[in-house]
Amino acid sequence: MTVPGIEHVAVVGAGTMGNGIAQVCATSGYRTTLIDVNAEAIERAKKTIAQSVTKLHSKGKISDEARDHALKGIQTSTDLSAAADADLVIEAATENKALKLQIFADLDRLCHANTILATNTSSISITEIAAATKRPQHVIGAHFMNPVPLMALVEIIRGYNTNHATLSTILEFTQSLGKTPVEAADYPGFISNRILCPMINEAIYCVMEGVGTPEAVDTVMRLGMNHPMGPLTLADFVGLDVVLAVMDVLYEGLGDPKYRACPLLRKMVAAGHLGKKSGRGFYVYNE
Ligand code: 3HC
Repeated sequence: MTVPGIEHVAVVGAGTMGNGIAQVCATSGYRTTLIDVNAEAIERAKKTIAQSVTKLHSKGKISDEARDHALKGIQTSTDLSAAADADLVIEAATENKALKLQIFADLDRLCHANTILATNTSSISITEIAAATKRPQHVIGAHFMNPVPLMALVEIIRGYNTNHATLSTILEFTQSLGKTPVEAADYPGFISNRILCPMINEAIYCVMEGVGTPEAVDTVMRLGMNHPMGPLTLADFVGLDVVLAVMDVLYEGLGDPKYRACPLLRKMVAAGHLGKKSGRGFYVYNE
């Protein structure tokens, strides 16, 4: 069941998170528009969505109607103005503060006054993003987890001025996607990345200091702690650049040296070894 008042959802950014979010919006029955400045990214996103919904459908996890809606019903555009008549916009652009502030200022200008503007940021302050608009009461964090179609959690973050109506609409909306929303306060890294990224960072220190090989570290955490993926496999999957960006936000925002990024992480990012997306991180990936 879709949420009353939310008919059209626009997703800004067609990368891993954006295409996953657009997919679950479409399979849940929302009119969905996927926007990215890069037409190639949109084409890649369409292929990823098609593969994912075909798989989920073959396993009986989604209906014929949901699959068809995601395959044929998602509108795409390279122009942000395609979000103008959306009831809800979910921004999932690159994790870059200046870029997000610009997108929110533009969305604020383009969208009607009551449109809710949500951001999928994994670590940037919702209060700061909201301050780029003239509607901070309608701005909120909705942090989805990767891979979006499989992961049940959405972390919901109110900015300093987010009002209750926006919060309750987003809680209902994420539930309508079949997800479980959990509220977190607007502090660096919220709950998820405040815990996850320091754990990954510590795993990288273990490799740098020779405590264990990547395989050993991952096996310990998989078999010893029942994590579905070891922390270094997960780091490759999330992107080492993303992990580094979050560590830097935690370090700057909380001012505690315990959040310093591991030098090996910084070196690997500088070398372009970003994980799965670049073909190499702690492990090597062949297509
Ligand atoms: N859509 C549809 N199906 C998918 C899919 C997708 N996007 N991704 C994987 N699958 C399918 C696989 O094809 C596979 O299908 P099969 O059984 O028919 O072969 C099935 O799901 C299971 O996948 P795998 O066998 O590859 O692996 P797992 O059983 O380990 O499950 C996983 C995959 C759910 C990703 C699991 O490994 C997991 O939970 N990993 C941890 C993920 C995690 O921690 N995510 C959070 C990252 S942090 C984040 O997002 C926040 C950010 O801010 C950093």
